Amino acid sequence: MLSEKSVGNKIVNQYIQNYINVNLNSDLHALLLKKSPFPDVSMQEIVQQIKGKQTAQKKFPFLLKDGIIFPPQLNLEQSSSEKTALYKSQILKGNKFIDLTSGFGIDAYYLSQNFEEVILVEQNAELLNIVEHNWGILNRKATFINQNLEDFLNINKEYFDVIYLDPARRDQNKNKVFLLEDLSPDILQIKENLLMAADQVVIKLSPLIDLKYLASALPDIFRIEIIAVKNDVKEAVIFLSNENREEIKVNCINLESEESSFLFKFGEEESAQAEYSEPEKFIYIPNNSILKAGVFNLVSERFGLKKLHPNTHIYTSVQKINDFPGRVLEVQTIESKQIKKKEQFNIISKNYPLKPEDIKKKYGIKDGGEHYLIFTQSKKGKIILKSV
Ligand SMILES: C[S@@+](CC[C@H](N)C(=O)[O-])C[C@H]1O[C@@H](n2cnc3c(N)ncnc32)[C@H](O)[C@@H]1O
Repeated sequence: MLSEKSVGNKIVNQYIQNYINVNLNSDLHALLLKKSPFPDVSMQEIVQQIKGKQTAQKKFPFLLKDGIIFPPQLNLEQSSSEKTALYKSQILKGNKFIDLTSGFGIDAYYLSQNFEEVILVEQNAELLNIVEHNWGILNRKATFINQNLEDFLNINKEYFDVIYLDPARRDQNKNKVFLLEDLSPDILQIKENLLMAADQVVIKLSPLIDLKYLASALPDIFRIEIIAVKNDVKEAVIFLSNENREEIKVNCINLESEESSFLFKFGEEESAQAEYSEPEKFIYIPNNSILKAGVFNLVSERFGLKKLHPNTHIYTSVQKINDFPGRVLEVQTIESKQIKKKEQFNIISKNYPLKPEDIKKKYGIKDGGEHYLIFTQSKKGKIILKSV
């Protein structure tokens, strides 16, 4: 049976849930203009649940269960996905786990799986109530603390195996380079308190953050995970500890691909030397988690591949190497006049003055098909490569 009293919310009523399920694919703008068929629940509240279920289908399908309540859209957007949370859960285990920025609790749900005792802190009371209700439905136990985490840390006397934080961005401008000070909470302000209270402090950050800046701002980092899903880089997760003074290890992973992860020590790129060559039979484009890590010379050295140009992060070889974490194509170099109008290609532009859209217009190429055209630069200048 669905419980209505735990969050004092009528939304879990079976009739309302049926109405939500029937309208999962309805036009939400049109729905919002209608009058709610239920006296105690507004159409806004119903649409919030529909948006929640729609988000859950893609981002956290484990929550597609009777009785689960979804928070407003911003909280859904701020949540991690089930896929990245599951990956992080495999790295962490211990006795006591605390998530100081619970949010909708997706990370907490997965990351705490291998711990005996679980504590969730969240400043937003309404949101935490929803999480507590949902964890009841999911049969998961935890202590839920509605408090500002800075206040919690000031009075806390407990010691944890892992403290986890997923700070919210103060500024939602996604294109802006940002600093740790732009986050809520400000990690630099609470760093000492965090490290005093745990063996490990694990913090999820946007992959837009600069890794060198991170390493200098937070010298206690001992590990960084750069997590992509289907080549879309989602998170940079940093691990801090009081005790560890070893060189930072960085692991680049592309989930939902067959590619193996790429692990390196932070200083390795500085000492790595790339070799250069014009394109040979095979070219290699590292996945985006590796490109984010900026280990451009190390990729050349590790895989014995030659680079096309200092600013072109495409590699080449005569013999094909297996298990490269990225795209591998057999190519030939072509002249621009060999490109026929209306031919179909997937366009890749790397270290080239025109974007794929401009290239398509210029040559009258159609998008798609099986083959690739790669517009790039080698040390000799601009080149076009065609996959065979
Ligand atoms: C990005 S969300 C966390 C999402 C979560 N990891 C998940 O997967 O669902 C960050 C949350 O931290 C909370 N928060 C930010 N600053 C806080 C503070 N100083 N004290 C307590 N909570 C805070 C926000 O209210 C927000 O819900």
